[in-house]
Amino acid sequence: MCGIIGFTGSGDAREIILDGLKRLEYRGYDSAGIAIQNKNEIDMVKAQGKVDNLISLSNKNNKLDGHCGIGHTRWATHGVPSDVNAHPHMSTDGKFAIVHNGIIENYAEIKSKLIEKGVKFLSETDTEVIVQLLDYYYDGDLKKTLVKTTSMLEGSYAIGVLCADYPGTIFAAKVASPLIIGVGVGENYFASDITAFVSRTKNVIDLDDYEFAEITKDKVTIFDHNFKEIKKEERKITWDVAAAEKSGYEHFMLKEIMEQPAALKATIEPRVKDGKVNFDELGIDIKKYDRILITACGSAYYAGCVGRDVIEKLCRIHVHTEVASELRYRDPIIDEKTLVLVISQSGETADTIAAIKEVQSKGADVVAIVNVVGSTIAKLANYTIYTWAGPEIAVATTKGYTTQVAVLYMFAVWAAFKLGRIDENKMEEYTSNIVSLPERAQRTLDLNTRVKKLADKYHEKQSIFFIGRYLDYAVCLEGSLKLKEISYIHSEAYAAGELKHGTIALIEKGRLVVSVCCYEPLLDKIISNIQQVKARGAQVLALAIEGNKKIFSEADDVLLVPKANELFMAAVEIIPLQLFAYYVAKNNKCDIDKPKNLAKSVTVE
Ligand code: AGP
Repeated sequence: MCGIIGFTGSGDAREIILDGLKRLEYRGYDSAGIAIQNKNEIDMVKAQGKVDNLISLSNKNNKLDGHCGIGHTRWATHGVPSDVNAHPHMSTDGKFAIVHNGIIENYAEIKSKLIEKGVKFLSETDTEVIVQLLDYYYDGDLKKTLVKTTSMLEGSYAIGVLCADYPGTIFAAKVASPLIIGVGVGENYFASDITAFVSRTKNVIDLDDYEFAEITKDKVTIFDHNFKEIKKEERKITWDVAAAEKSGYEHFMLKEIMEQPAALKATIEPRVKDGKVNFDELGIDIKKYDRILITACGSAYYAGCVGRDVIEKLCRIHVHTEVASELRYRDPIIDEKTLVLVISQSGETADTIAAIKEVQSKGADVVAIVNVVGSTIAKLANYTIYTWAGPEIAVATTKGYTTQVAVLYMFAVWAAFKLGRIDENKMEEYTSNIVSLPERAQRTLDLNTRVKKLADKYHEKQSIFFIGRYLDYAVCLEGSLKLKEISYIHSEAYAAGELKHGTIALIEKGRLVVSVCCYEPLLDKIISNIQQVKARGAQVLALAIEGNKKIFSEADDVLLVPKANELFMAAVEIIPLQLFAYYVAKNNKCDIDKPKNLAKSVTVE
């Protein structure tokens, strides 16, 4: 969703901030803007549409000349996407400019009070109340005014502020919306995520909720609402800037699909000791719990569906899954004997954060499976397991999902061993299946050319169904989401056995049904579902396991993936479906990395 960058140093602020905004494009946005401080003046340019529009407008504006400024990419929440509603927002007298991520829930109330006092508003945004409040209360001491202003805000915010009276200084504050500070040599930054400035510095400080930052080119001062200085540790980003660049690939999505063997290896290897999965260092007393609840959103939830089936099968403990956006409002029955697994690539998904707070308030312990180090979810959880996928830029998750599934496999095997449900031999056998994932993922990527051809054949379909049973059904959910979110083709995933309870009415001549047949104990069942849809004229693209000869006489097209224990297939069988979605979207000339209406990290409800 919205992206923020702030810079102060000796370099050309316009160039550095525009470069940062380009790097934040992946988050999803509809307008962008920049404000630069030049001595005691602030100049601003905003534009609806792509950052490239903003770049060409900025290049025509000679006044955007300075060494300190803020920039923003906006994903509209209050007010349509437009030049006026784009950030930064300025106070009427031009003294303040701010950028904001999040939602100010009491903005209408504040706005009407300020209007009564004669303040004029230009935009329809909730954000503008912050800058007008700053201006209204300002008495020459910006730190004091910032604390007073933010104390009036309800909701979530990460804000970056420029004040004409403070040349060379940028200010920041946050509650429930991410903001990090980049510490360079003779220059410093703030941003909504590291990608904005990782090409310039890898040293970061995490700003926590209710903290404020005053940043000059040589100094970062963090303080609380009593103006007490807070000492914060710096941490170093381990990934290289190339990880956040396309490195010759046409799209980030394709690059990230291809990175999956390496991402799986990085996620699995540190957790395997002497041929056995080991999560002991987390200190989780697994015997304490009588049930497990898995919650997340979107693809992370679908990874959780795979996890549910494998954990329940191996641990013989009841596992329930629920999307976080429902769980948070449902008053679920949860207590201290419930272990809640929360899954999130970004670690910043608003509904998932709310679900954590809900279950923790009922006494449950939370294990977070998260990719972004230091993210809100990683910090809120009682235990955190990182997926080491590296930065994921494409809105459609790929390596994020497969590494989540790998962690869930490892958790299942480790927990089953701790609970005495499997013996040492089984533990070693299952671990070796998990350890073989990177190599199996690599071999599956060899299907690339063949999948591309199938996408050429099928990309004009108006509607595509995915069917599977048990673990294959969980994979269908993700395969179907991948296709619809980037190609805009209508798609649905069905538990194959449910077809005849209604959906089969939609099967007609030429309908494409992608049939996932990798859970071999149920092969005969899915084959009979294939026969049912074929009998009604459907075309079938089947995904099955190497060595399956039977499937060729049933399906129109077949893709085969490398064999392993049937419980540990999902992380590999999703790969051809990711490639299929990618090439269908490419054929249809879609904006693959930044699909319409979607954002990488859904930080508002
Ligand atoms: C997947 O391709 C989507 N971009 C989306 O469903 C995503 O998985 C979901 O929003 C959850 O995000 P998170 O993993 O960052 O919490």
